Amino acid sequence: MTAILEVNAISKHYRRGDERIVALADVSFRIEQPTVTAVAGPSGSGKSTLLSMLARFDQPDSGHIMIDGARLDSIAESGLDQFRNRKLGFVFQQFNLVSVLSAVENVELALAPQALPKQERRSRAIAALEMVGIGHRLSHKPTELSGGQQQRVAIARALVNRPRFVIADEPTGSLDSKTAHELLDLIGRLNQQMDTTFIIATHDVKVMQMAHRVIRLEDGRLI
Ligand SMILES: Nc1ncnc2c1ncn2[C@@H]1O[C@H](COP(=O)(O)OP(=O)(O)OP(=O)(O)O)[C@@H](O)[C@H]1O
Ligand SMILES: [Mg+2]
Repeated sequence: MTAILEVNAISKHYRRGDERIVALADVSFRIEQPTVTAVAGPSGSGKSTLLSMLARFDQPDSGHIMIDGARLDSIAESGLDQFRNRKLGFVFQQFNLVSVLSAVENVELALAPQALPKQERRSRAIAALEMVGIGHRLSHKPTELSGGQQQRVAIARALVNRPRFVIADEPTGSLDSKTAHELLDLIGRLNQQMDTTFIIATHDVKVMQMAHRVIRLEDGRLI
């Protein structure tokens, strides 16, 4: 069966002065169906490094990744924005919201590459924010929102394009247990109803419990 995502023997190291840090060592796995995969492992085990390779924010030193049959390293720099916009939603560990923009404007940014009428963009952004339970904070800027609320804006931004893949780094990290529970419900629903594939780096056992599969990293290696 052809995989929708295939990670083939990827390795990545970083250099800090004389120190050589192995962030990922010969990691391989495949995802064949639209499922929820949790990436678990202690702090520093390489989870965020792996996720950033999946969205091609960074490239492995060796090995390669295929998404929907296309090799990520074959996508030209000029086509990257379009690739991400069409296929991926990404939730960063540090939210990465634009501080001068309101919640709804931050979500609209993800729709910007599409030629949509302004009203349509606004209503889709509002619908995404309502879906994650933050429809009452549309005009607040990130500094006027709590950590958990910023997290939800970041999630709405990742979902607003209805991408085939959502890559999320600790999406429940700053959520209280009720909101985290609602988010996991939403992830389950989107997976079932929209065939969205989720890859979620997490320390949260609740995420691991709801995931179809848990991949574990230790010192950059799959265990
Ligand atoms: N830009 C960088 N330069 C140097 N070392 C880095 C860099 N980014 C990550 N590392 C190192 O690579 C290793 C893997 O880091 P990574 O951020 O992937 O871990 P993680 O599993 O996401 O951890 P956490 O659970 O704390 O988020 C760590 O040892 C980290 O210090
Ligand atoms: Mg991390």
